[in-house]
Amino acid sequence: MPTPDLLSHLRSIVGPSGYLDQAADIEPYLVDHRKLYHGATALVLRPDSTDQVSRILAACNEAGVGVVPFGGNTSYCGGTVPNEDGSEIVLSLARLKRVRTIDAVNNTMIVEAGCVLAEVQKAAEGVDRLFPLSLGSEGSCQIGGNLSTNAGGTAVLHYGMTRDLVLGLEVVLADGRVLDGLKGLRKDNTGYDLKHLFMGAEGTLGVITAASLKLFPRPVSAATALIAVPTPQAAVELLGRLRTATGSLTTFELMPRIGLELTVKHISGVSDPFDAPSPWYVLAEATSPRAGDPLESIMEAALGDAMEAGLLADAVVAQSEAQRQMFWRIREQIPEAQRQEGASIKHDVSVMISRLPAFMEEGAAIVKRLAPTARLVAYGHLGDGNLHFNVTVPVGGDGKQFLASAPAINEAIHDLIAEYRGSISAEHGIGRLKREELEHYKSSAELEVMRAVKQALDPNGIMNPGKVV
Ligand code: MLT
Ligand code: ZN
Repeated sequence: MPTPDLLSHLRSIVGPSGYLDQAADIEPYLVDHRKLYHGATALVLRPDSTDQVSRILAACNEAGVGVVPFGGNTSYCGGTVPNEDGSEIVLSLARLKRVRTIDAVNNTMIVEAGCVLAEVQKAAEGVDRLFPLSLGSEGSCQIGGNLSTNAGGTAVLHYGMTRDLVLGLEVVLADGRVLDGLKGLRKDNTGYDLKHLFMGAEGTLGVITAASLKLFPRPVSAATALIAVPTPQAAVELLGRLRTATGSLTTFELMPRIGLELTVKHISGVSDPFDAPSPWYVLAEATSPRAGDPLESIMEAALGDAMEAGLLADAVVAQSEAQRQMFWRIREQIPEAQRQEGASIKHDVSVMISRLPAFMEEGAAIVKRLAPTARLVAYGHLGDGNLHFNVTVPVGGDGKQFLASAPAINEAIHDLIAEYRGSISAEHGIGRLKREELEHYKSSAELEVMRAVKQALDPNGIMNPGKVV
């Protein structure tokens, strides 16, 4: 437990505008986005400099008090909730929100952890560049959280995961030392690449306070298609064709019929553009920084060929920005539509794309066996081999009763994923939610190395205790 002396020392580090200690102010920091956990704390710190973060960690490390880094609170896995006994301090990075530099020649920008992702994108746009990380929560998630969780999103196919977009990090270690990796170099082969340890560590090894990010040419031409496909196998074959034909496929997302139906039902401004229903849909987008790039006609020709080959039943290439936005809305609002439809059991799995259709068939059979009347809503980033293999409460069913089947369904789906040598968390991380599962599915050698790293960097175990390892 933090002593009164420690609490007042921490308050003095950040000054009067840098902390919250009243119950009503603290409350929003205690509950995760999915409302799975409810923690407690005596103090939320809101430092506004790396130096303050450093002094906070040094003090907490000496006292052996846990620190829970807190970003935009959009984690699906309870990664930012302090434990229930109130013994941990919450460290919000929200006031570290400066764009320190943008260098359009070097194609880099240095941003602080509390910058909201949409603001990072906007700052890049301001110098006619693209920062390509793009996800549903971009209006509220913070780049520090994206980095710490190595977030995915809808442009991974072309640009990679968050860790692929980073040249270097500034990290405060558990004892307060600062690792400064913000040189902005594309080539630096000088031993271990330390930055990658902290991405995906979810704040368990140190606190990311700033990052040097890669910028790209800004796309000015795009072709966006909504495509009705008969099967996931057809979608996989179509993926290969569109990648080759366009040379710059940035997005390839799979959606089931029920995903479209739920968004039409719950989300305003969404309608089904097709005459006939299809069991599956694909949202595909190709982009290019070349003005006047004939991507639309390339896409149309490739889709025509694919139709002749029986890989699709129908397709619409967006004819206006409004139509393009609507196609995107269908995809991006599926999670929200699913939430409005009632309780759901979520999975965030990946396998090799070539094995995805077979996994989906076996996975669907498992859901049918364990929850015969529940509705499978399997959608997501097919281009990355990553699906949200979610299950929604039966029509008119009782949410609580349905959720009681979650452990059995999770276990069966994740066992199947293990058989397919896939991942039980492709892009949402581990947090608290999947810690036991991580332990179950990782090999003992992997776990031993992870624990050795944790022990080396955080010997007192103060960094986001109880998460990941
Ligand atoms: C998505 O791809 O939409 C999210 O990662 C999953 C979700 O919000 O459930
Ligand atoms: Zn996703």
